[in-house]
Amino acid sequence: MLLHSIDEVREVVQKWKTEGYKVGLVPTMGALHDGHLSLIKKAKSICDKVVVSDFVNPIQFGPNEDFDKYPRTLDTDMKLCDEEGVDIIFAPTPKEMYGEGQRLSNNTLTYVCPPFFYVNTLCGKTRIGHFDGVCTVVLKLFNIVQPDYAFFGQKDAQQVIIIKKMVKDLNVPVEIIQCPIVREASGLALSSRNKYLSEEGKKDALVLSKILNNIKECYKKGIVDVNALKETAYSFLTNKHDMEYLEIVDKDTLENKTAADDNSIALTAIRVENVRLIDNIYLGE
Ligand code: PAF
Repeated sequence: MLLHSIDEVREVVQKWKTEGYKVGLVPTMGALHDGHLSLIKKAKSICDKVVVSDFVNPIQFGPNEDFDKYPRTLDTDMKLCDEEGVDIIFAPTPKEMYGEGQRLSNNTLTYVCPPFFYVNTLCGKTRIGHFDGVCTVVLKLFNIVQPDYAFFGQKDAQQVIIIKKMVKDLNVPVEIIQCPIVREASGLALSSRNKYLSEEGKKDALVLSKILNNIKECYKKGIVDVNALKETAYSFLTNKHDMEYLEIVDKDTLENKTAADDNSIALTAIRVENVRLIDNIYLGE
């Protein structure tokens, strides 16, 4: 069932709740791919009813980012959700979510602002305000759907850590489930932004998984010094790669480490054909 209004979603979900159903929410910005479908499948395996939100959230994009050209494929998304047995696709307009005439700044809208430490690192260093926008829309979705479980992908590892922190700090009654990264056979992590890449760009984009796999191999061979591990990456880079960051941090707290351990995660953001791609790997698994 495709729903556009908050009231309709609330009505249906309230009915489910009185019938004792467990409700799962998979928040997405649409342009669904196999990564999203893995979240939906996981939700279906745990919950009686599954809601997928399909909303390109304007307030998580910076002024020079790709909000306007972000792929919008609602018809295909609906077909895919249908095949997976999704109960509701919630596809609101920006007006439904944020009201008419809102200038979407924190002068006019109540924002959820995660702690500085969590947003002033990794993706947050260049995507100013991004995680405020993410947390704000995710909390709104939690309040609208009131799910028992919500499902997020490990590819956005920083996002999941920040959302878990928000849920804990604000006592939101939802359990966050993180699902593994889904990759193409080549190793490229699935992302809606892969659509922007040419065939050659897709090959160049393999550098992300190569760098991360190599770091993990080196760690498994006994190299733990974080600088030494990061150094191993540079030989993979060419002039087609614009590295924004490569970090090895604690997988639960994002704290920096000087020596990697089984609790570490290596994360990177690299631009290929001016498309910003992210990927990560747990060193301990
Ligand atoms: O990960 C995403 O697609 C978005 O950041 C999310 C969680 C749907 C919020 O808009």
